[in-house]
Amino acid sequence: DKGNHRHFMAKEIYEQPETVSHTLSHYVDMSSDKVALREALPFDFATLKRLTISACGTASYAGIVAKYWFERYARLPVDVDVASEFRYREPPLEQGGLSLFISQSGETADTLAALRYCAGQGQHIASLLNSPESTMARESQVVFPTLCGPEIGVASTKAFTAQLTALASLAVAAGVARGTISAQQEAELVHSLTTLPTAISAALALEGQVEDIAKRLSKAKDVLYLGRGQMYPIAMEGALKLKELSYIHAEAYPAGELKHGPIALVDELMPVIVVAPSDELMAKTLSNMQEVAARGGKIILITDEVGKQTVGEGVAEVLVLPKVASFVAPILATIPVQLLAYHTASFMGTDVDQPRNLAKSVTVE
Ligand code: F6R
Repeated sequence: DKGNHRHFMAKEIYEQPETVSHTLSHYVDMSSDKVALREALPFDFATLKRLTISACGTASYAGIVAKYWFERYARLPVDVDVASEFRYREPPLEQGGLSLFISQSGETADTLAALRYCAGQGQHIASLLNSPESTMARESQVVFPTLCGPEIGVASTKAFTAQLTALASLAVAAGVARGTISAQQEAELVHSLTTLPTAISAALALEGQVEDIAKRLSKAKDVLYLGRGQMYPIAMEGALKLKELSYIHAEAYPAGELKHGPIALVDELMPVIVVAPSDELMAKTLSNMQEVAARGGKIILITDEVGKQTVGEGVAEVLVLPKVASFVAPILATIPVQLLAYHTASFMGTDVDQPRNLAKSVTVE
């Protein structure tokens, strides 16, 4: 049932204030602002030397955001790779390490093969899944649920933000166990997660402005997405959503890589979507953005009030998100990139819920 929406994808995008809140209530105690994992852990975060994450597509981008979080807040080294590369590289893994697999379906062939490889290497096997009855669930020592309900649209939306919400909570839990964050910091980080549902609702209200931008994006041949640090995987997610839904060619680059090649692509016809809510790295990204603007690129900036004040005039479009703590900013910044892809595609009349050539669950490699 699509409710009042034209597509399942729209319904699933609009469910995110509730789905994020629901996921969060499984992982944290909102009354005390503490993490509260319900799953019995077959490993100890305190003594872990390395975390290895494998996943495909959108789920792999959740893994890249998680790498920033685990490294920053838990000082835990993280390797993350797409499962189709990881499984054939056969990387050496230290006994007793933790391998984490992220999957909406729990059935993706490459992710499952990576899981089996890691199990064979004596790793602890944890999965973050939306399907508790899946093959990956059966083959894991611990399953962390995303709890966002069935996702019908082929393009992943609410599963991604649920994955991020769970991963953020796990990173805080790891930080507490490893003594790398204080009780005070734990409370601040958990509190920032609890601000998300309201902030996501406010971001969804950008829809009218997004529709205007989408009309123009629908005429583009190529679109560039830029982000830095934890916003880089959100730029990748934006580019993937746009390609798969609208069939417009889109690429994401880490903002600092621009001058090492891709800036040659920029001309007056090139829309460049810059994902830069205010955080420690925003100023760097904005200076990369000015280089694009100077070459005529049409900038669409996703930021907050602080970012908007910083850039002043000269940017074609600014989508202003509510200001949230930088920890949770990647989760919030996901909303406008989803809306941009959705509206560009629905404006072009493509089959948003069933894009050509794609299947919801990729059970062959
Ligand atoms: C993109 C998308 C895919 C999936 C990928 C992994 O919108 O949906 O990239 O994220 O196929 O699927 P799961 O999460 O089921 O392993």
